Amino acid sequence: MKRLYFILAFTVFGINAFGQKTNDQKASELLSKMTLEEKIGQLVQYSGFEYATGPQNSNSANVLNEIKQGKVGSMLNVAGAQETRKFQELALKSRLKIPLLFGQDVIHGYRTTFPINLGQAASWDLKLIEKSERIAATEASAYGIHWTFAPMVDIARDPRWGRVMEGSGEDTYLGTQIGLARIKGFQGKGLGNLDAIMACAKHFAAYGAAVGGRDYNSVDMSLRQLYETYLPPFKAAAEAGVATFMNSFNDINGIPATANQYILRDLLKGKWNYNGFVVSDWGSIGEMVPHGYAKDNKEAAEKAIIAGSDMDMESRAYMAELPNLVKEGKVDPKLIDDAARRILIKKFEMGLFDDPYRFSDEKRQKEQLNNLENRKFGREFGSKSIVLLKNEKNILPLSRSAKTIALIGPFGKETSANHGFWSVAFKDDNLRIVTQFDGIKNQLDKSATLLYAKGANIDDQDRSMFAEAVETAKKADVVIMTLGEGHDMSGEAKSRSNIRFSGVQEDLLKEIAKTGKPIVLMINAGRPLVFDWAADNIPTIVYTWWLGTEAGNSIADVLFGTVNPGGKLPMTFPRTEGQIPVYYNHYNTGRPAKNNTDRNYVSAYIDLDNDPKFPFGYGLSYTQFKYSDMDLSSINLTGNQTLNISVNVTNTGNYDGEEVVQLYIRDLVGKVVRPVKELKGFQKVFIKKGETKTVTFILTPESLKFYDDELNYDWEGGEFDIMIGTDSQNVQTKRINWKK
Ligand code: BGC
Repeated sequence: MKRLYFILAFTVFGINAFGQKTNDQKASELLSKMTLEEKIGQLVQYSGFEYATGPQNSNSANVLNEIKQGKVGSMLNVAGAQETRKFQELALKSRLKIPLLFGQDVIHGYRTTFPINLGQAASWDLKLIEKSERIAATEASAYGIHWTFAPMVDIARDPRWGRVMEGSGEDTYLGTQIGLARIKGFQGKGLGNLDAIMACAKHFAAYGAAVGGRDYNSVDMSLRQLYETYLPPFKAAAEAGVATFMNSFNDINGIPATANQYILRDLLKGKWNYNGFVVSDWGSIGEMVPHGYAKDNKEAAEKAIIAGSDMDMESRAYMAELPNLVKEGKVDPKLIDDAARRILIKKFEMGLFDDPYRFSDEKRQKEQLNNLENRKFGREFGSKSIVLLKNEKNILPLSRSAKTIALIGPFGKETSANHGFWSVAFKDDNLRIVTQFDGIKNQLDKSATLLYAKGANIDDQDRSMFAEAVETAKKADVVIMTLGEGHDMSGEAKSRSNIRFSGVQEDLLKEIAKTGKPIVLMINAGRPLVFDWAADNIPTIVYTWWLGTEAGNSIADVLFGTVNPGGKLPMTFPRTEGQIPVYYNHYNTGRPAKNNTDRNYVSAYIDLDNDPKFPFGYGLSYTQFKYSDMDLSSINLTGNQTLNISVNVTNTGNYDGEEVVQLYIRDLVGKVVRPVKELKGFQKVFIKKGETKTVTFILTPESLKFYDDELNYDWEGGEFDIMIGTDSQNVQTKRINWKK
């Protein structure tokens, strides 16, 4: 800390403690040489031409020309040592030779893909998550990438929204911790290191609350809700030094996020004192025209720059309109300077002015082509992301010498789909993926047989393969059914109103169930699905999300018990779509139902139980954990005291295993109503069979704070329930009184 002060003291005049210019100083010097057009150029970002992640308007010849003229600051979707070098060479032909920044969506891995982010969140394992981003950054930076558009830290309570796959689920606390782990992983030991890439907290803000779960839709909510539920992961990201922020597409209470002065200028850059830069989302500046917030691109550019959007991704509004807006006096040139400075500083921090090609290194790229260590990690991470939902008859783990296993379902031999939604398509994808069939086959004893039948396509009405699948099942001792939704049925612009198994897969399952064979149901999905019939009738269910390059191996490791599953749901699983949004940390209402069947003028549906199918935090293990002796250091506390909470967790089953011990609180009476439960801590512990571990948590008044109706952030004295348990429903409770 002392050293930091020392350095700060000497950086006031732009010279640091070692007599060198700071990046800020270097950016100022450069800015003083730049024309208005060149400064605006730094605010422009285009997509490459081979791979687009949005509706593309750019004409490639024009873009290449503009790069040469210094009119482009950044490209996205240009990757590979050779390709990035080619573009960088063009930028270095410009008058001031300012290098380009290369951005890409490195979302759940890069060359080695990992579980989709919601699956990763199910691991509740911050170390694994951080490491996965470290690997992703190392691989991506070797392909010339400087910047990832991740992490997505949008809290989401609506599984119809396709982008839940890219986030960490419904909980603000868990989502914040995971967001921080990701940023740490991406940015590594700091920008400027060759294996560190700039991270981007997105989508600012409240994108996850789109009305009806329909992507890009409006968001209307109280500021209190915004502050309490949706902003904390962003605030934490800003404090942790995330290099960039990205706007969201939605409007918030009538004002598009892209031109929302309150959240960008006043909050992010003002109150939070954030000094990175803000990139628009793809085309979101221009989209303020259809939004009805700007009459044309010119007005959109004006509103966006004034609000605090620094870089224009693919709208072509800044380059076309800002020069005139400045000349006409509608935009203060200081705003252009500020935006350009923020971007230039990042380029200095990345070391691009020292060597613009330092990330475009074919040798490094080759080393990351098929990095076996990374794959090994991917295999482990995949298995740790799987959630065991049911194992009533202890069919799992399977024996490797089971005589005949039938793998049935449209996902058994899927190849590149296992990468999930956000993966950059490499040409050799199909060859690199471990399919579910191969993963299982590789682990079976030679004496055992693995049969396969597709049974149905992912999403059509074709039942012609049912008969063959039934015959295959009849020949087997155990059937593994692999069902779900397509990998491209979640993700951006992939909202669904019906979130069940797609096509005729459920009917296939019913047909196979009639054979009476034991079934292990494996569900592949990018969101919580509704699968009531299966949940009620199939005794063994594992949720495998989309697991990435090593999918088949990760799955087989769990099915055969090399890995004892320990994942827990990061989102509530609804009973039907009609129950959405359903989340664990709701308010109590004045008429809470006493139980699931209570319909007596209470807050309930007359045709549906209130509780979800599977609660937040839920997940089983092959072993059992018993919680006992919950102990509090005191039940009467005052002021800034600390509460120590401990509980004994005993592994009473037959396998070693990991358990995520969860701590929730409830503030019983508040100035504003408080949720029935709020996650305040969790610990993932490995416990050997027969062993007991004492798990402890420390709570301080900081954890009791909340936003009141005037957005004051503080805590109130009173009664609190302290709850510890294995999921958000199954908890032990003790009441305390904490005086202020
Ligand atoms: C998405 C962003 C993404 C960007 C660039 C947009 O459509 O909303 O999350 O980073 O495209 O691919």
